[in-house]
Amino acid sequence: MFRIRYKLSQLSDKIKGVDFTTSVSCEAAGIFDVPGAQYYASSGFAPELKAALDYLKITPRDTILDYGSGKGGALKKLHQYPFGKVAGVELSASLAMICRQNLMRLHIDDIEIIVQNAIEFNDIDGFNYFYFFNPFGPEVLRKVLDNILESTSRIPRNITLIYNYPKYAEVFNQAGPFLLSKVFVDGARKINIYNLNREARLSN
Ligand SMILES: C[S@@+](CC[C@H](N)C(=O)[O-])C[C@H]1O[C@@H](n2cnc3c(N)ncnc32)[C@H](O)[C@@H]1O
Repeated sequence: MFRIRYKLSQLSDKIKGVDFTTSVSCEAAGIFDVPGAQYYASSGFAPELKAALDYLKITPRDTILDYGSGKGGALKKLHQYPFGKVAGVELSASLAMICRQNLMRLHIDDIEIIVQNAIEFNDIDGFNYFYFFNPFGPEVLRKVLDNILESTSRIPRNITLIYNYPKYAEVFNQAGPFLLSKVFVDGARKINIYNLNREARLSN
């Protein structure tokens, strides 16, 4: 089933003159020696992502950052929901360039793409949603979750983390106050939703 959806998404890309879907190896994306970095694969056409986003009842006051946004597969889907802001941080300059071209082609001009290692990107106080489609290994994930916790110490707020293909879920459990609030399953594919509650954080 996944294979069919992948092919259909590629076909839809082709008709629109974009390329959100085709997977890219780390080497082809110019990523070498970055511990645990995952290759580019789009989650934008996955039904479990749609199910999760429908469930979350997004409002224009919500803002989301896609960690490892690649060619923008998920960004395109996130943009279909009423987020007040959608952004992505991506390590590969070449994937980010394809992403910008894709978005331009669809006349989407309000998604910000930052080309940086997620570990070093700290301008996150303005976000209350964070999306991860298995972008990196436990080492980087741990540091990124620390960055999010530090951000909530600076600006206390409720946070929702969407972890698609939660290969390193134990890192979320070890990181402290993230509560697993919902799980979406579609065959072998899975999305975990975690919440960080402002009140719980303030009383810690
Ligand atoms: C599985 S893809 C997810 C793509 C996109 N988020 C989606 O769901 O359609 C993982 C992406 O993370 C990027 N990545 C890996 N390590 C990274 C890091 N340390 N900082 C930023 N991006 C990274 C890869 O280049 C790749 O584009």
